[in-house]
Amino acid sequence: MVLTHVQELDDAAAASAVVFASRYVQEPLPRYELGEKSISKDAAYQIIHDELLLDSSPRLNLASFVTTWMEPECDRLMLEAINKNYADMDEYPVTTELQNRCVNIIARLFNAPLSAGETAVGVGTVGSSEAIMLAGLAFKRRWQNRRKAAGKPHDKPNIVTGANVQVCWEKFARYFEVELKEVKLREGCYVMDPDEAVRMVDENTICVAAILGSTLTGEFEDAKRLNDLLAVKNRRTGWDTPIHVDAASGGFIAPFLYPELEWDFRLPLVKSINVSGHKYGLVYAGVGWVVWRSKEDLPDELIFHINYLGADQPTFTLNFSKGSSQIIAQYYQFLRLGFEGYRNVMENCMESARTLRDGLERTGRFTVISKDQGVPLVAFTFKGRDTSLAFRLSAALRRFGWIVPAYTMPANLEHMAVLRVVVREDFGRTMAERFLNNLGMAMEELDDEAKGGVVPRMRFTIELGPPARGSGEEATARVVKRESVVAVHRSVSLAGGKTKGVC
Ligand SMILES: Cc1ncc(COP(=O)(O)O)c(C=O)c1O
Repeated sequence: MVLTHVQELDDAAAASAVVFASRYVQEPLPRYELGEKSISKDAAYQIIHDELLLDSSPRLNLASFVTTWMEPECDRLMLEAINKNYADMDEYPVTTELQNRCVNIIARLFNAPLSAGETAVGVGTVGSSEAIMLAGLAFKRRWQNRRKAAGKPHDKPNIVTGANVQVCWEKFARYFEVELKEVKLREGCYVMDPDEAVRMVDENTICVAAILGSTLTGEFEDAKRLNDLLAVKNRRTGWDTPIHVDAASGGFIAPFLYPELEWDFRLPLVKSINVSGHKYGLVYAGVGWVVWRSKEDLPDELIFHINYLGADQPTFTLNFSKGSSQIIAQYYQFLRLGFEGYRNVMENCMESARTLRDGLERTGRFTVISKDQGVPLVAFTFKGRDTSLAFRLSAALRRFGWIVPAYTMPANLEHMAVLRVVVREDFGRTMAERFLNNLGMAMEELDDEAKGGVVPRMRFTIELGPPARGSGEEATARVVKRESVVAVHRSVSLAGGKTKGVC
């Protein structure tokens, strides 16, 4: 099955254009089948390099939480490890040791109840999605084991979440046959209401998932209240419903900016937490983490023991082979930045997010729906009822190179169209100011459009003449006519980044 979209092309176009590389390659190259002959490495590099120029610049991609800049020293370490398969733990014991250090650092950062010298329980994953699948499987198996032991049915497990969960929770539910019971959002409340969540818990609930940093608005859900309400319900019913915290984005923010906030293993019902190393863990795409409160929370039967590569190696992952570079990079960041460095980065990101929020509010056109406490991002809607404006602004910003997603909110709030600007470490104050400037210009375009695609302009007719003797100029210009024009069509794209011009 092919999940990618194949461009429909006629026979001639089905070949890759090789204009630039034509000094190396004379024949057109097929795109969707293996070429018969080899080509030189220079040609292969140049063709692919050129085609990739059409991708957007990752640094201007304000849609993503995922890291787009790391220090060159870390880039070097990553390149040095690019040929190491992480699965070969016995062959690369130091890489395995670095992963173990990362798991222990994260578990302690999240206040796991570990005694001095005790080893934390957790694994590195490809991202938070895999981490959530593993955590979900552990909850499902523990629930099934309890139900079986009690002689009760165990075929209808469910998870209670907010309707704002990221798609990976829906994937988990569908792939592993668990019902997702979603607490609906409502006007002014864009995260899971803990009271409603606890009301929805029943004897088949394998866990309640709280998000530390909602994907849609960056807001932290109230894990403390959820824990307290659930503890009361557990006592009353005799159930043992646990909590998972999806801290994909917030897990590397809250410990540094809000150390007093109780969202982690300080809450007794929190049994596992995931976090994306490749988001505010400050590593390039390809690393996530899941940690459990204790060994008892990860059923032994989910762990495989392999020995064909050497010594006995326990593994609990969905994939077997994967790169080592991201694990090494995560350890680099922990070692290099320490608590102080992470706090500085997060404070800076927050400051840039405030600059953005203030600038947006000054326009008087937007309502900012993200909170001051949360992931450093600004989520905002247009005042008024026209939801198409958000999508049009997103498209207009794209012409300046910025990628800002516009999306409608989930069930109950589909009438809201939100724009979201994520601030990462490499998005500094200068960029924030430049972004606001471009946003102002994009808004002008939208306003022009609203006036029917016409813009009041002056038109000059210029006559070019020969240069004055000795002036060194190429020509002289004389304005022969100056007129006020009402209708000049707006959307004329000019080279060089300008999107509006008079011609
Ligand atoms: C709250 C939340 N959970 C899970 C994920 C999935 O994370 P990953 O991309 O690391 O798989 C995301 C991604 O944005 C997220 O925001």
